Amino acid sequence: MPVFTVTTPLRSYPVLVERDAASKLRDYIPERAGKVFVVTTVDVWDFHGARLTAALWGISHEVLMFPGGEENKRLSEVEKLAEQMVAAGGDRTSVVVAFGGGIVNDVGGFLAACFMRGVPVIQIPTTLLAQVDAGVGGKTGVNLVSGKNLFGAFHQPLAVLIDPEVLSTLPEREYRAGLYEVLKTGVIRSAELFELMVKQRQAILAREDGVVEEMVARSVAVKAAVVSADERESGLRRILNFGHTLGHALEAETRYSRFLHGEAVAFGMRAAVHLGCLHGDLDEAEGRRINEAIASYGPIPSLKGVEARALVRRLQSDKKTVQGRVHFVLPVRIGEVKVVAGIDEALILEAAERAVKEVTP
Ligand code: GLY
Repeated sequence: MPVFTVTTPLRSYPVLVERDAASKLRDYIPERAGKVFVVTTVDVWDFHGARLTAALWGISHEVLMFPGGEENKRLSEVEKLAEQMVAAGGDRTSVVVAFGGGIVNDVGGFLAACFMRGVPVIQIPTTLLAQVDAGVGGKTGVNLVSGKNLFGAFHQPLAVLIDPEVLSTLPEREYRAGLYEVLKTGVIRSAELFELMVKQRQAILAREDGVVEEMVARSVAVKAAVVSADERESGLRRILNFGHTLGHALEAETRYSRFLHGEAVAFGMRAAVHLGCLHGDLDEAEGRRINEAIASYGPIPSLKGVEARALVRRLQSDKKTVQGRVHFVLPVRIGEVKVVAGIDEALILEAAERAVKEVTP
């Protein structure tokens, strides 16, 4: 199975996509490392903890339970974890292993970025969303009341270990939420991946091994290349935010309680497709193909009670708003997007209204 490399100015690191990748964990723990702290959640540990216990046999380690959930992705939880590390003898030689979904990858990575002013982290993503996006690329952080991921740091891992086999135990809703991020990757950078998602829909939904591995590997290849070209999101990396502008607004508007991140991104992508068409960048037929593909992996939960106007109002506090100008990633064709700022608010509202209507029975 493939190994991809992320190359950034400070560090190059491998991203393994292979069965039982976690069993290689000890190969990536530095020789003189002190205690290893595994940050995980109860459900991930119940399902897959034995793999990690075996991989860490003979290595001094502690398992720290994070409560999970977007509402707990807060600075106060990071502080609690840091206190537990100190109490258990953590020091500058400690290593964090973030073992779980995207939220665990973000929180565990941020804990490592801050503990004793920075210790190494190894990412072992266990959800589809985390394997194809959150676990790769070094973005770490927590939410503020005023918005998602507004407090964090770039902290590249020593390695990312991805085992597509663990996806077989993922709840259906979480799996589908990850599939939207795969579709995102196809739309922004890989027409082949998009076509795979369209043609192999049944096999993908049935989680057939070969196609799942191919889908994850193709997604990781795109993510590794984009991050290597632009670690700090000053240019190309912004394309990974396709669907995230209105997606983040939807998550914040519904207090992170109604939609999984991938579901909110699916809504945001639908709106961005409409915006692309209204703005004149995207052909209507191509736009329909994208939105049909998104719908074919749905449905996402209804937006009943959510006003498009309220979502648009929220855009000012998003990270993608720079000096008051809201940025959108808009498709030009399947496999290519562009970043556009300063779009007329009436057009954004119209696009958001169309998407809200489509997903609200
Ligand atoms: N999830 C978007 C990024 O890693 O830049």
